[in-house]
Amino acid sequence: MHSMIGIFDSGVGGLSVFREIRKVLPEQSYMYYSDNAHCPYGEKSREYIIERAREITRFMLEKGCEIIVVACNTATAAAISTLRAEFPVKFIGMEPAIKPAAQSTQTGVVGVLATAGTLKASKYLDTREKWAQNVTIAEHIGQGFVELVETGNISGPSAEATVRASLLPLLEAGADNIVLGCTHYPFLISTIEKIAHEEFPQRSINVIDPAPAVARHLLEVMAEEGICEKASEGYNIELHSSGDSSNLQRTFHSLILK
Ligand code: DGL
Repeated sequence: MHSMIGIFDSGVGGLSVFREIRKVLPEQSYMYYSDNAHCPYGEKSREYIIERAREITRFMLEKGCEIIVVACNTATAAAISTLRAEFPVKFIGMEPAIKPAAQSTQTGVVGVLATAGTLKASKYLDTREKWAQNVTIAEHIGQGFVELVETGNISGPSAEATVRASLLPLLEAGADNIVLGCTHYPFLISTIEKIAHEEFPQRSINVIDPAPAVARHLLEVMAEEGICEKASEGYNIELHSSGDSSNLQRTFHSLILK
């Protein structure tokens, strides 16, 4: 059986993580799973997401994945502790980049954009409690962001209007560091930066995507586990989705193979 790194998300969002992983591990084999028939996860119950994560994990293990990246903040917050308790494989999860944001803010205000599920999860609340004691955190759901990315509508006037509605409250609260707490949101980074600059041209605003840190963490865990950085049999990439795969194929080709 071909050994692989498994990566999953509710849709194409996890490709923003896959892109960074491939930069550090170009000769590995991968399986990417988009659970788009069940997307978005953001408003679903914890039990529902745990059940989806279990099913995807079983599929990945049957196909020979040796380590699994939960490339979704919402699924990490809801399900990673259950997955770790139930399956004999290492899981790498997402963590909102509150620590670097809190360390670099000049205004003392950090903005967090994430899904409803992430913002209410104890995993997120613990991270916030741990790293944000001396700063103010302003939070907002990225309302409609996942839908924009799933339909490939990431720039232009309608995408900007949607992004502005959720970003503006954070900027108005004084945020100079914006943490992207959902793996779909990095697809909108140019739009986010454009709006931030238009609204607050004098403020230096830093938008943080945690994917490079997750890729480095994956490398460390693979070294600890003795998983080889190169696929021994020659590398390949499998794409799977639970629904229509056209956006996955298109986004994969433009983002990962470009
Ligand atoms: N990309 C996911 C996340 O990081 C899920 C978004 C969604 O399906 O609502 O939170």
